[in-house]
Amino acid sequence: MDRHNTSSKIARASAPGKVILFGEHFVVYDTPAILAAITRRVEASAKLNDSKITIKSDIGLSAEYAFGNSGERAGSSVQDQASARFLDPLYQLVRDLLVKENTTHGVEVEISSRVTHGIGLGSSAACCVAVAAAVSSLLPSCLSDKANVCKIATESERLIHSNSSGADCFVCTFGGLIQYSRNRGFSNIESNHHPLSFIVADTGVKHSTAELVSLAKKFRESNRPQFDNLANEATQICNQALGAIKSRNLEKLGNLMNQNHSLLQKLGVSHQRTDQLVDICLNAGAIGAKLTGAGGGGAVLALADGSAKQTIASKLRDKGFSCFEAEIDYDGLKIPAT
Ligand code: MEV
Repeated sequence: MDRHNTSSKIARASAPGKVILFGEHFVVYDTPAILAAITRRVEASAKLNDSKITIKSDIGLSAEYAFGNSGERAGSSVQDQASARFLDPLYQLVRDLLVKENTTHGVEVEISSRVTHGIGLGSSAACCVAVAAAVSSLLPSCLSDKANVCKIATESERLIHSNSSGADCFVCTFGGLIQYSRNRGFSNIESNHHPLSFIVADTGVKHSTAELVSLAKKFRESNRPQFDNLANEATQICNQALGAIKSRNLEKLGNLMNQNHSLLQKLGVSHQRTDQLVDICLNAGAIGAKLTGAGGGGAVLALADGSAKQTIASKLRDKGFSCFEAEIDYDGLKIPAT
């Protein structure tokens, strides 16, 4: 690609955040999980420039990387450790795309997110997916399909936590309600666009997915039989949940969510604040509630119907917790025509 071809074209892409309805943590060890993309998005825009890679996010993080001809990182000015942790994997993703193109151009990336970071709603995965799609659509060998974007995004997310099951990037790319297992891949849950609705509540306690995944790993290493029993129960819960979703048995689904939460408590990845929020949601009329994602604080997912949603939301807000209503997003990655 010719250096003089730098155009002012701005490419955009967006990807939804996600919730895990069933099976988080156990999915890392090839048990099934059920995930849904939710109606909150991360948007990325990208524009070629002369030689630097700059990445800026509206959560106050920014970094600038010099981009050498060899594609090697030639130096960086990264605001702080938080920026580095969050943005370095995105830098590597962008750099790899540019290097494959054999270009010496740089790129400016801007990220704007409505998916709260660090609470298990797939913000890192949605960023990786949206950035991969936006940057690639500036390049001649534009990643032609969602599967390719998902692959690149998953590689990048594995730089954030190396044991990633790949489930988050998958659902953020394809959207909808899916069943996923690490070795058997995914299947769409034939749901005729089920209007499941949720309250997603923020415990206010940020977590590190990588640390919680390694906590679960240590549990597995030191209590293998107990871990295997929990994983078997998680598999059964997930299988029953598939039936409950298909037959629209919300009571059963809620009950299975409660059971799944109790497995995660036993695994040691819940948090006092998470349990408190689960109780608030259930007492206010949620059909079921559990931690969602990695745990250790983070987000709580409550299944709720009709007017119970408002009651739950106001009880949570009265106690000082932020929350929002969410439905399932069936679009996944969106790349608007430029
Ligand atoms: C994180 O959202 C979900 C985990 O199961 C990790 C993973 O699947 O990579 C905890």
